[in-house]
Amino acid sequence: MGKRSVPETSQIAGPHIPVLLDEVLAALAPLAGACIVDGTFGAGGYSRALLEAGATVVAIDRDPSVEPFAQALKAEFGDRFSFVAGTFSQLDALAAAHGPIDGVVLDIGVSSMQLDEGVRGFSFMREGPLDMRMSGQGESAADLVNRLDAEPLANLLYAFGEERKSRRIAQFIVAARETAPIATTLELGRIIEKAIGRKPGDAHPATRSFQALRIAVNGEFEQLVDGLFAAERLLPQGGRLAVISFHSLEDRIVKRFLDPEKGGPPQSRHLPQAQSEARRWVEVRKAVKAGEAELGRNPRARSSTLRSALRSDAVARPVRLDGLGVPQIRGAA
Ligand SMILES: C[S@@+](CC[C@H](N)C(=O)[O-])C[C@H]1O[C@@H](n2cnc3c(N)ncnc32)[C@H](O)[C@@H]1O
Repeated sequence: MGKRSVPETSQIAGPHIPVLLDEVLAALAPLAGACIVDGTFGAGGYSRALLEAGATVVAIDRDPSVEPFAQALKAEFGDRFSFVAGTFSQLDALAAAHGPIDGVVLDIGVSSMQLDEGVRGFSFMREGPLDMRMSGQGESAADLVNRLDAEPLANLLYAFGEERKSRRIAQFIVAARETAPIATTLELGRIIEKAIGRKPGDAHPATRSFQALRIAVNGEFEQLVDGLFAAERLLPQGGRLAVISFHSLEDRIVKRFLDPEKGGPPQSRHLPQAQSEARRWVEVRKAVKAGEAELGRNPRARSSTLRSALRSDAVARPVRLDGLGVPQIRGAA
């Protein structure tokens, strides 16, 4: 892909306001005819802007409820747009049928639709079943909080939410569920507030615990690591990767993955030394945050961080978790 001027941000339909959109477009520099994988389709804000720039888009999402947004783009852009239901951890396999790929974008985390619809169970602000499953499959957050003993539950809240009062919260959860299983978001929020109190002006006391449960329920760190290595396998030399993360634990993984000097995976014993040491990513850009104007329009952009880079010609690395700073739950196998 060569350089060209980046299109103006278009009017985006849909309830999720895409974050750092102009910056993402600048990082991906979509030429007409380029093929970009949007691994986290959501309401399709990035996909639409890429299509309007003339690119072909292969969109992936694990949440079946995004399909109406995908159908709308299909009706408007025809063959230049495809949607594949699945996880971005397999984006190389899912995109394989679509020919050479020039760029990958991952906007990890939850969408506004997921957060704002109480029935999805992601928010401690909205009453709903304690669910949090993006795909609607597998173990829910309620299953986890009602199944785990106090110690593994505390370890999970500490590792994935950096919750320093995790032990006390876990004790309160275990005590509360002796009466009846914990079933709803507000119920869990109240138990956590009872455990650790609430100071005026501070974030809601359940913020960190809800983050931890959501990460666990959706296997978000495994997904991120696998997705990054899948992009490394998929992209040819010069291919562009843009990743938007929403908290420091995710951002650390992306940073270390792109730049071995920040502590990326150790060298591989299975590759010749020169190949093992070669940089897989070049032109690694500094982290980009939302400016004041964007924050005025969309306060949810506050915690977003964009990192981007270009693929080198070095052979892709085998998937390795070590060196990436992936949080580990103490005592977990
Ligand atoms: C922050 S939203 C993306 C919003 C999108 N950029 C837009 O402009 O509308 C994240 C989306 O990624 C999806 N998602 C999260 N993790 C995923 C994964 N591992 N595989 C596929 N989709 C995932 C979520 O279901 C959600 O729809």
